[in-house]
Amino acid sequence: MGTFRRLLGFLRPYRRLWAISFVLALLAVGVTVVSPALIGHGIDRIRDGDEGGLQQVAIAIALLGLGRLGLTVGRRLVAGRVSLGVEQDLRERLYGHLQVLDMGFFDRWQTGQLMSRATVDLSAVRFFLGYGLVFVVQSLLTVVLAAIAMTIQQPLLTLACLLPAPLIVWVGHAYGVRGRPAQQDAQQAVAEVTAAAEESISGIRVVKAFAAEERREAAFSSAVDHAFDKQLRAVRIDASFQPVVQFLPQISLAIVLLVGGRMVVSDTITVGQFTAFFVYVLMLVQPLRSLGVMLGLGQRATASGARLFQVLDREPAIVAPPADRLRTLPADAPGRALGAIEFDDVTLRYPEQDTPALQDVSVRIAAGERVAIVGQTGSGKTALVQLLPRLYDPVAGRVLIDGVDVRDLDPTALRHEIAIIDDDPFLFTASVAENIAYAAPGASREEIEQAARRARADGFVRELPDGYDTVVGERGLTLSGGQRQRLAIARALLAGPERAAADGATSTRGPRILVLDDATSNVDASTEQEITTGLREVMRGRTTLVIAHRLSTVLLADRVVVLHHGRVADVGTHAELVERSELYREIVTYGMADQVFLTREERPTEVQEA
Ligand SMILES: Nc1ncnc2c1ncn2[C@@H]1O[C@H](COP(=O)(O)OP(=O)(O)O)[C@@H](O)[C@H]1O
Ligand SMILES: [Mg+2]
Repeated sequence: MGTFRRLLGFLRPYRRLWAISFVLALLAVGVTVVSPALIGHGIDRIRDGDEGGLQQVAIAIALLGLGRLGLTVGRRLVAGRVSLGVEQDLRERLYGHLQVLDMGFFDRWQTGQLMSRATVDLSAVRFFLGYGLVFVVQSLLTVVLAAIAMTIQQPLLTLACLLPAPLIVWVGHAYGVRGRPAQQDAQQAVAEVTAAAEESISGIRVVKAFAAEERREAAFSSAVDHAFDKQLRAVRIDASFQPVVQFLPQISLAIVLLVGGRMVVSDTITVGQFTAFFVYVLMLVQPLRSLGVMLGLGQRATASGARLFQVLDREPAIVAPPADRLRTLPADAPGRALGAIEFDDVTLRYPEQDTPALQDVSVRIAAGERVAIVGQTGSGKTALVQLLPRLYDPVAGRVLIDGVDVRDLDPTALRHEIAIIDDDPFLFTASVAENIAYAAPGASREEIEQAARRARADGFVRELPDGYDTVVGERGLTLSGGQRQRLAIARALLAGPERAAADGATSTRGPRILVLDDATSNVDASTEQEITTGLREVMRGRTTLVIAHRLSTVLLADRVVVLHHGRVADVGTHAELVERSELYREIVTYGMADQVFLTREERPTEVQEA
């Protein structure tokens, strides 16, 4: 019930519209309920041979019909407006909330679960709030008013012919609860078939290369079978619902005929009154059925609402500090380097993971320093750099930037100062220029091109069909891994607040800390050479952390941090480490020579034998 009341809260901005649609519904109900009585009245005029009276009744019925038409159109327009408004509000609330939630939340929730909340659940709620609720009220009123009108005339007959009414409501309700979901399940299953087909086609290279056609086909046909079953179930429910709902009123009609007919014969009621009853019964079928269906839908909307609130009620774990703790990063000053980092005894545990990804990590990095982070796959390299922009918070210890605990900074301001480029940079479906300017929407074309030149991207961009206006990304031109990385580096260069350059005359942009996570891991050696040249320039004047899989990248760094199973194994210059760290020598020899992803355990002697 709590959920239902909260859902009603979404109607608050539309109180007026909702009231209008309610009043329109009420008037329509009034008109509807009067009609059968008028028809009965007309029939008695026939009996009396009263032509003038008959004409009046006919005109009245036509006018009422017209009035009802207008009222219904009006109500549907207004209710549609409310429904769409509620949908829009809900979508924006949900989307906005998803944007502020932390990475830990997204680790735990599957994309599919979130998508189904954003689609199926959302539409269940908005349909019920927009249309369903008015319908429930309208149907209920129709039934009650008609029952009153009928009872006034013939209590006994009314009781007799309304006997099957609860049954109709009940069947409708069952349909609302089960029929609709069955249809949605069926739709979902069909969507899964589409997804399976799509995956087979996009993954066709792998499928063919591993001769897995048969397995794929088996998987696909099981998806098809599943969809078939779900659809069949929906058809079954549908197949019995309509006929049953049509059958029940027949019972009422039979009762009216039997009981009412006798009353006419014995002159207790007129033929007109008898007809009015007959029409009432016919007229009540639809509202009774709607009432049931809508109550069922209401029940589902409440369940959907509860699922929406599960997401909406989730508090973001990473938030701005309270105002009294809020600090800002020290600003630029001539001659002062920015971007000092200190990991102070940091332990990080991902949600629902037993072993910490990082354990008691302490590393100090001076402003402007270039540090390479090396370690085997899973040693915590990515985990470490994700702490800087607070994608995750450590469970113990502190992360300081220029002496300020990152938790005392406004997260937005903090993130403007750190750019992370990972090994698989995401490009949005937009032009190259827009993708580069993603972190700085106000950037001029000149700034964009300059950033591209510094990232060594300008050359290939100019060769694209539309140069900087070429649309790339999911639905655009596909770029190679190396090209995407260079765009990502250009993007990073534009991130961050505008600040005066060292000479004080020109302004530059760019975050004070740049992180390259495997950023050159999937490009060929010559491209890497180019990027490396670009990197040298990019690294100037800012602190850079490079998670390196190649010796050439490591050699760009002043110092190297070696991670092992979430702990710092050693820190030093390349030369020092080669000298004293066996682990480092191993990583350099086996893990880097040709950037293989060998783990320490898997680095076996049979490689040499082979
Ligand atoms: N989002 C996550 N949720 C849970 N565990 C994670 C997550 N990301 C990484 N891990 C785990 O944390 C450890 C460190 O991972 P990571 O920092 O990505 O290693 P790498 O050194 O290869 O970058 C690994 O054991 C990994 O399985
Ligand atoms: Mg990693």
